[in-house]
Amino acid sequence: MNNHFSTQAVHGGEEKRKPYGALTTPIVQTSTYTFQDTAEIVDFLERKAARKAGEDLEVRDEYGRYSNPTQSAAERKLAVLEGGERALLFSTGMAAITTAVLTLLSAGDHLLMIDNSYRRTREFAKKFLVRWGIDCTLVPIDDPAAWVAALRPNTRLFFSETPTNPYLRVMDLSSMAGVAREHGILTMVDSTFGTPVNLRPLEYGIDLVMHSASKYLGGHNDLLAGTVIGPRRLLDEIENARGVLGGVGGPHDAYLLLRGLKTLDLRVRRQNENALRMARFLEGHPAVRTVYYPGLPGHPDHEIARRQMSGYGGVVSFEIDGDMEDTGRFIDRLQIPYIGPTLGGVESIAQQQARFVSLDPEERRATGIVDNLVRYALGIEDCDDLIADLAGALEGV
Ligand SMILES: Cc1ncc(COP(=O)(O)O)c(C=O)c1O
Repeated sequence: MNNHFSTQAVHGGEEKRKPYGALTTPIVQTSTYTFQDTAEIVDFLERKAARKAGEDLEVRDEYGRYSNPTQSAAERKLAVLEGGERALLFSTGMAAITTAVLTLLSAGDHLLMIDNSYRRTREFAKKFLVRWGIDCTLVPIDDPAAWVAALRPNTRLFFSETPTNPYLRVMDLSSMAGVAREHGILTMVDSTFGTPVNLRPLEYGIDLVMHSASKYLGGHNDLLAGTVIGPRRLLDEIENARGVLGGVGGPHDAYLLLRGLKTLDLRVRRQNENALRMARFLEGHPAVRTVYYPGLPGHPDHEIARRQMSGYGGVVSFEIDGDMEDTGRFIDRLQIPYIGPTLGGVESIAQQQARFVSLDPEERRATGIVDNLVRYALGIEDCDDLIADLAGALEGV
């Protein structure tokens, strides 16, 4: 059935008839799954082999590092919401990225990555992958000529994020997929800030989408998870690597994620609205130097975002007219948002990015995070209250 997004968010991927007649998918809290006898093991192995050979059949669970029924339901729902053949769940977003990239690349391969991506993703590429003989070139998000110039005969993967954390630059996914197709390389997009409500990268020809599900997908600041979504031929390989590398999440987190996903559409629409209103309020405010939000016509990627996204997302970044200390005092005057290093949940969270990078100014400069940058991740509170609170805190700048 071709239901709309919010119907799929509630019902997609879950059996109508669940064990015990339960309405919600049960948390199957077990580390392993037992076999009645040897014949059942043989049957299991035969079905697994048939599935590997391409037959579309169900295979029972074996051990918690490979699968869990609560996790499988969450994976089916994620695949439906992103429009992919398969989804895999991981313990964190970083486990999703590292496992997928390690599956796709081998020693001697070259990776293209946008220079604006999440700093831990860049750290994985520049500090870890290089040690295993995989080179990475960082390229600007908005310069297809620079992407092509950076390509090498051994380039295998082009990784981007959109919108980026924290400057909210937007990748033109059609251009990215076009360049990759022309040169026979795979593409992977971190769509954590986009969410499948606002953006569906697979529809633009991107091969793999990933999310930190700890953010909008979970949506309640109470779980850590990551997901990779895409075609079965790639996901089957990544699943095997997950079984080896072990970055699998637990059934309880999978349940929380299933529950969070049911309200994804409602939450993200509200967060889009709150963020757009806040960005408009901040634009032109005398205590604010620059506002970064792709929904503002002055944003360098506004036209791409308008074409590609159905909402501009729930994060607004901005520079206070002040230094490191002024910005810290501004954050401390805010009454409603929490201070912390995450985003995407129902509670608003504001942070001075530099405080979470390093005490060393040189190190901060190297990451590209300026001292007066604030990342405000909107929750689902009433926007009038959030703006009144913000206006009060800005008065002291
Ligand atoms: C854009 C983006 N990708 C990936 C991650 C990593 O996700 P996790 O914290 O779930 O490992 C984050 C976390 O902040 C993020 O913001």
